[in-house]
Amino acid sequence: MAGLNMSSFGECTHAIVRSIPESLCKGALRMEEGDDVDFAAAKREHELYVGVLKNTLGLQVISLPGEESLPDCPFVEDVAVVCGETALITRPGAGSRRKEVEEMKKALRALHLNVVEMTDENATLDGGDVLFTGKEFFVGLSKRTNQRGAEILADTFKDYAVSTVPVEGHLHLKSCCSMAGPNLIAIGSGDAAQKILKTMQQMSDHRYDKLTVPDDHAANCIYMNIPSKGHVLLHRTTEEFPESVKVFEKLKDYLLIPVSGTELDKVDGLLTCCSVLINKKPEL
Ligand code: GLY
Repeated sequence: MAGLNMSSFGECTHAIVRSIPESLCKGALRMEEGDDVDFAAAKREHELYVGVLKNTLGLQVISLPGEESLPDCPFVEDVAVVCGETALITRPGAGSRRKEVEEMKKALRALHLNVVEMTDENATLDGGDVLFTGKEFFVGLSKRTNQRGAEILADTFKDYAVSTVPVEGHLHLKSCCSMAGPNLIAIGSGDAAQKILKTMQQMSDHRYDKLTVPDDHAANCIYMNIPSKGHVLLHRTTEEFPESVKVFEKLKDYLLIPVSGTELDKVDGLLTCCSVLINKKPEL
């Protein structure tokens, strides 16, 4: 199996995001009932997030319009998995989310990526269940993602090993983990998160370093390697998760960027959910 040259792990040039429709507040899927989403506050948080990608980090951001008939559409990560020049358009596990793929497909084609569609009606896959480490993929088998979806991902990205991991107690695999750097897995301290980590360690030939944070949702962070900035980590704020932020602050030589995500978190949307990151080679 080939692997990515790890010095290029996290490089990205483009991000695809999608605006928040008002219907998200009452219509987005959620694991548990709870506080209402404040639309104005959610929009503000999302705009700050997009501003970090565009203005602080200098990515080319493609902003897709929100669609009122698709309340979960800002969670673009679930509808596409991009690795290198290939983009897999998923078949989201929730029927109400299937049409979200249409705008994403157009955007990825416009970027001249090799777009592969998951058309098998027995397959489901949400990108939130896909963790790419640079060396291999882990795919969470959850309420949204099944074995057939994982098989199609493995067929699409043949250069990498793909292991499946049962997910319980969380919506997605990445609801409690993510990559916080090359070879570094951020993981929550909850029982479900620790069980997931143990399974990933058992499945893998690689030895990853781990960054354990007290709060599972804080373990969903976004690592990027940006030429003018070096190691960059977008993570949740001190106001939201003070103890987890203390752990991130121990990372040396990182540009740490706190980003609030309280409103979208109410409907199980975390930091990685809101963008598809792409590293595009310049076209000749
Ligand atoms: N609200 C995010 C999801 O359920 O897919």
